[in-house]
Amino acid sequence: MERTLSLIKPDGVARNLIGEVIKRFETAGIKIVAMKKLHLSRKQAEGFYAVHKERPFFNSLMEFMTSGPIVAMVLEGEDVIAHNRKLMGATNFKEAEEGTIRRDYATDIEKNVVHGSDAPETAAFEISYFFNSMEIVG
Ligand code: CMP
Repeated sequence: MERTLSLIKPDGVARNLIGEVIKRFETAGIKIVAMKKLHLSRKQAEGFYAVHKERPFFNSLMEFMTSGPIVAMVLEGEDVIAHNRKLMGATNFKEAEEGTIRRDYATDIEKNVVHGSDAPETAAFEISYFFNSMEIVG
């Protein structure tokens, strides 16, 4: 069984999409093995997105990600990193397949409702960024 980190971003929480996102994961057979709501500080957001710090959109992304509460979850399932990315759809909602979370709910390339780890190494880093082993209940 594989694990990945999922975030419901401030736009998704503000628009009452927590239940909708969770429903899609559970309907797809994915288990939520940890979950918490939190409001990131600038430092916490910078640490999480450190790989993007040279990107032109970094400052705007930091303002967005600290603009309100988020929900962090650890998802578990077979091939769940790829499965979650398929359910989310492309980063740019205009390129996302029909029926994906971002195609259905994202409003621009930044406010794209959800984040999901993109590889096993990033999943390990991102899960440990938000959760300790006692908080993950498989
Ligand atoms: P996420 O998958 O969380 O990874 C980085 C985030 O930066 C991305 O989703 C978007 O919210 C945001 N972002 C804003 N502009 C861009 C862009 N041009 N390319 C990729 N990500 C972007």
